[in-house]
Amino acid sequence: MKKRIVLLPGDGIGKEVIGSAKDVLRAIAEEFNHNFHFETHEIGGAAIDLYGTPLPETTIDACKQADAVLLGAVGGPKWDHNPSHLRPERGLLGIRKALDLYANVRPIKGFKNLLHTSPLKEEVIVGSDLLIVRELTGGLYFGTPSERRENGNVAVDTLSYSRKEIERIVDKGFQAAQGRRGHLTSVDKANVLESSKLWREIVEEKKAQYPDVTVEHVLVDAAAMKLITNPTQFDVIVTENMFGDILSDEASVLTGSLGMLPSASLREDGLGLYEPVHGSAPDIAGKGVANPVAMILSAALMLRYSFQLDDEAKLLEEAVQSVLDAGFHTADLHVPDGRPVGTVEMTRLIVDYIKSQNASKCIMSCYI
Ligand code: NAD
Ligand code: IPM
Ligand code: MN
Repeated sequence: MKKRIVLLPGDGIGKEVIGSAKDVLRAIAEEFNHNFHFETHEIGGAAIDLYGTPLPETTIDACKQADAVLLGAVGGPKWDHNPSHLRPERGLLGIRKALDLYANVRPIKGFKNLLHTSPLKEEVIVGSDLLIVRELTGGLYFGTPSERRENGNVAVDTLSYSRKEIERIVDKGFQAAQGRRGHLTSVDKANVLESSKLWREIVEEKKAQYPDVTVEHVLVDAAAMKLITNPTQFDVIVTENMFGDILSDEASVLTGSLGMLPSASLREDGLGLYEPVHGSAPDIAGKGVANPVAMILSAALMLRYSFQLDDEAKLLEEAVQSVLDAGFHTADLHVPDGRPVGTVEMTRLIVDYIKSQNASKCIMSCYI
């Protein structure tokens, strides 16, 4: 299979972990005889430094022509005091909007042998396996720009959602639940916000179309509490942009580290941008210690969702699992008696597993 993949490293550890994704995908391509062509473009702070904008037209065009996009992370203290249109984060929001990537899917499932690395009690998190379906191109993040400041002393962000925007993401939530354990939790703030009231009405209307899915509504504050006190009650959570952002970082605690969570940002026709949930981690950038697992698992989601390469995705996930099972981990995971390694070493171990697995299958088939 021939595929064109655009890499957007961005800033900070984004530049480090994107290399890991490329390495593992090269190994997959080699083992399965695919032709993955990689093209790198700038976004975020790196693009501001080079082109004076966080999202150059060349980057947008390349992404539009790609079969899939992999993004590292954007942002960093260097650009924190830039005016808002020159913040690296604007590049990320811009590319999501330009490609209409309205459905952000964030799977959260702890690896068995890492459950004890979470600050939460193992007996509370064991068996937790949930999916956050986050609306990604609306809400507070995309409020009317002209209302952001009045006279320098008032800041206004507007939260607006149309019926169409809500319907399409709620459908994604229901469909995801159908493919899993059939339970959908819609998270909102319908006791206060008008946009949430509309959200809840639409979920109620949609219920009839998905009789095989059980639905409950949970207010976002309670959801934040339930997520860490009783996470196994959740299957699929569907929620708006800002709530999904906050709840997914919180949910990462179930897996031991934010460095473990992948995500897929999708639009209707299957084009996807795949990005870890974490940011550019300025506190560890350049030290070679970033956890590449979130990025690598995002590459696995790309193989599955955009290219329908399920066996390849499974092998990649199995490789991560096997390396973690052998006790290897990056410093963000607190594994007593573990085998701490850096980004490059962790990636190499995963690549080695991919190569050894396919080699062993080949040896087996030669004997049969
Ligand atoms: P962050 O996610 O970058 O880091 C939070 C904490 O988690 C830090 O202590 C960091 O060291 C740790 N961490 C994150 N990813 C890790 C990994 N792979 N391995 C090991 N440790 C990891 O969040 P922040 O510090 O609040 O934000 C830093 C910058 O990143 C900001 O500019 C923010 O806007 C940006 N950001 C970008 C994205 C994105 O590009 N998708 C996401 C979140 C934040
Ligand atoms: C994420 C990030 C982004 C978001 C920021 C950097 C704009 O936190 O992808 O979770 O809030 O969507
Ligand atoms: Mn976030």
